[in-house]
Amino acid sequence: MARIAVVAGDGIGPEVVAQARKVVDAVLPGVEATEYDLGAARYHRTGEVLPESVLEELAGHDAILLGAVGDPTVPPGVLERGLLLKLRFAFDQYVNLRPSRLWPGVAGPLAAVKPGEVDLVVVREGTEGLYAGAGGALHRGTPAEVATEESLNTRHGVERVIRDAFARARRRERRKVTLVHKTNVLTHAGSLWARAFEAVAAEHPDVTTEYQHVDAAAMFLVTQPQRYDVVVTDNLFGDILTDIAAAVTGGIGLAASGSINPDGAYPSMFEPVHGSAPDIAGRGVADPVAAVLSAGLLLDQLGHAEEAARITAAVGSELAARTPGVPVRTVEVGDRLAAYAAS
Ligand code: NAD
Ligand code: IPM
Ligand code: MN
Repeated sequence: MARIAVVAGDGIGPEVVAQARKVVDAVLPGVEATEYDLGAARYHRTGEVLPESVLEELAGHDAILLGAVGDPTVPPGVLERGLLLKLRFAFDQYVNLRPSRLWPGVAGPLAAVKPGEVDLVVVREGTEGLYAGAGGALHRGTPAEVATEESLNTRHGVERVIRDAFARARRRERRKVTLVHKTNVLTHAGSLWARAFEAVAAEHPDVTTEYQHVDAAAMFLVTQPQRYDVVVTDNLFGDILTDIAAAVTGGIGLAASGSINPDGAYPSMFEPVHGSAPDIAGRGVADPVAAVLSAGLLLDQLGHAEEAARITAAVGSELAARTPGVPVRTVEVGDRLAAYAAS
C-alpha cells in the first residue's frame, strides 16, 4: 500500500488537506499517511524550516501531499524557499504539472467560452530559471542599491521538461505543444529554449507545435484559452501563467498541481496551485477542490488510475451541483466529495 507524507503547512493548507485525505481514504482505504509538522508554527517554536533528518524521512515516501506554505508572521522567502522550493529542488521535481479545465457547472469569467472547451495543461519547469540562479545586492538600503537575480537554464534541464511536455501531448487528443518564452528580449535563455524545443519537435512529427511570447500568451490565456493543449514554459512564466489559467477556469480554489520527478528516483509532491490564503484562513471557507484534485493526481502517479478517476468524477458532480455565487464551506465540500467518491 502507498506510503504518503503529508505536509499540511500554513493558513488554509491544513483545512484543505484534511478534506483531500478524507477523499483519498474514501477511494483507497488503507493508504498509510504520515503527517509532518513543517511550516510557520514549527519555525516559530524551534527555528527549524526543514531539518536534514526530515528531508531524509520524506525521501522514503512514495509521494508527498502538500497544502501550502507561507505566513505573514514569517519573513517572505524563509518558508517558500527554505521548505517548498527546497523540496522541489532536492527531489528533482522538474515537471511542475498544472492542468486547467473549465468544468460543467463552473462559471468562467468569459461568457463566450463554454465548459468542455478549455482543457489545457501547463508543464512548468520546476527546478531552474530565476528560482535557481545566483543573485546579489550591492549598497543595500542606500540610494545606490543594485539587486540582481540570475536565471539558470541548462540544456539538460530545459530539454527534459520539453520532452515531458511532448510525451504528455502524445497522450492527449489534440497533440499540440506551445512553447512560451520571451525570446525577443531574453536572447540567451530564449535561444536555448527555442533550440531545445526545435530539436525535440523534430523527433515528434505527430505533434503540432507553436511558439508564443509570454506577454501574448498571458493575453490569449484570457481571451482564447481554448487554443491551448500543452503549454511548456520556464519556472517563473509558468508560475504566473498558471494563476491566470486558474482564474479563467473558475478560480484558484479549483487549480491542482503536481511537482513531479518523472524518473521516479525521488517522491513527487502534489499541491494546490494556491497558497496559504491568510485572508481567509481559519474561517472554514477555503475551497478544498484544488487539494482534492491534487490528491487525485497523486493517486494517478502512483498507479491508482481508477481511484483517481473516481475523484475527478466526484469533483465533476460537486461542481455541477454548485450554484454560482454561493460561498462554499470547506468541510461540507470535503464530506460531499468523499461521499461521491465512495459511491
Ligand atoms: P494565495 O493563493 O494564498 O491567495 C490569493 C487569493 O486567493 C486570496 O484572496 C485567497 O483568499 C484566495 N484563495 C486561495 N486559495 C483559495 C481557496 N482554496 N479557496 C478560496 N479562495 C482561495 O496567494 P498569496 O496571498 O499571494 O500568498 C499567501 C501566502 O501563500 C504567501 O506566504 C505565499 O508565499 C504563499 N504561497 C504558497 C504556495 C504554496 O505553498 N504552494 C503557493 C502560493 C503562495
Ligand atoms: C506556487 C507558488 C510558489 C512558486 C512559491 C510559494 C515559492 O507561488 O507554487 O505557485 O512560485 O512556485
Ligand atoms: Mn504561484
